Amino acid sequence: MAAACGPRPRPGVLDIAPYVPGTSTLPGARPVVKLSSNETPFGPSPSTIEAYHSAAGILSRYHEGSARPLREAIGALHGLDPDRIVCGAGSDELLNLLACAYLGPGDEAIYSAHGFLVYKIAILARGATPVAAPETELTADVDAILACVSPRTRLVFIANPNNPTGTYLTFDEIRRLREGLPPNVLLVLDAAYAEYVRKKDYESGIDLVTESTNTVMTRTFSKLYGLASLRIGWAYCPPSVADALNRIRGPFNVSGPAIAAGVAALKDQAWAQVAIDHNELWRGGLTESFAGLGLGVTPSAANFLLLHFPNGRSAPEADKFLRERRIVLRRVEEYGLPDALRMTIGTEDENRAVIEALTAFMGKT
Ligand SMILES: Cc1ncc(COP(=O)(O)O)c(C=O)c1O
Repeated sequence: MAAACGPRPRPGVLDIAPYVPGTSTLPGARPVVKLSSNETPFGPSPSTIEAYHSAAGILSRYHEGSARPLREAIGALHGLDPDRIVCGAGSDELLNLLACAYLGPGDEAIYSAHGFLVYKIAILARGATPVAAPETELTADVDAILACVSPRTRLVFIANPNNPTGTYLTFDEIRRLREGLPPNVLLVLDAAYAEYVRKKDYESGIDLVTESTNTVMTRTFSKLYGLASLRIGWAYCPPSVADALNRIRGPFNVSGPAIAAGVAALKDQAWAQVAIDHNELWRGGLTESFAGLGLGVTPSAANFLLLHFPNGRSAPEADKFLRERRIVLRRVEEYGLPDALRMTIGTEDENRAVIEALTAFMGKT
């Protein structure tokens, strides 16, 4: 009885299916090949770890509250005005802050049908209505997104490349999307995997943000820079959007050790390049190997592959088979992809272990 009279979350909150992260451990002590969350297999650079350790000496003091050293380092690397950069505790925080600043009850926000799950959560958390635009061949479809626009649309989230599909939109298509959207609709380009893309017709969106008043790009240190657990993301924004985010973000929302590690990570581009080259090599190699086993592989521009299991060989069975061999990929049912598993590209040994296990699972030799 008492519970019925207690506080109720606002409408929408209890419609949210909580985000389920990729599995990181399995019962038992033996090591796990964790390829479930798209982290770099190399981890942060040694100088990044050193910077993080050094920051342990100054934990008792509040640091500068706007992550200025990190914004300046990002600005220097990418040629951007640091005042137009807002840092967050992961890009997840920034995606949520954007929803918080621009969405409310009665508003609609669009994302593509197999888009990153956090968008729907962020939209519902504001009491707004999520609208999923159909995709074509597991790729965001600009015409389908534009067809979803209504007088209530306030925001469009696009992951480019998208997680979990790995597919991307060319910059021409992104421009066409922007031009087709009403000017009062905020376009959020989530470029969490931008560094891994090696396509001549791809751009993360920096130029578009620079020249527009209604487009934002978000980025992360969780993938290429190996800092997922430190939680660092950044948004490059029009000045008015940066202003709005700075009004609602928590003071000191990125910790001092995270800022120190982020600055060091950006300085070590040689370390990042090794990871990019490794990814490029294995993205092609793994795609070929899995296709040779009879698996469907969605062409990926990122650091992971979406594997489709043919009739008679289900993804849950493959997942169980792999887990019995201490290998964890990502189930993607909640993305509407029950017949697929997502695999992060790992170290050479990890990749070979997956090829070997799936070769056995598919009954090949
Ligand atoms: C497309 C996309 N955007 C954003 C994120 C969030 O990254 P983080 O909050 O760690 O910066 C992820 C993480 O998996 C992602 O796949």
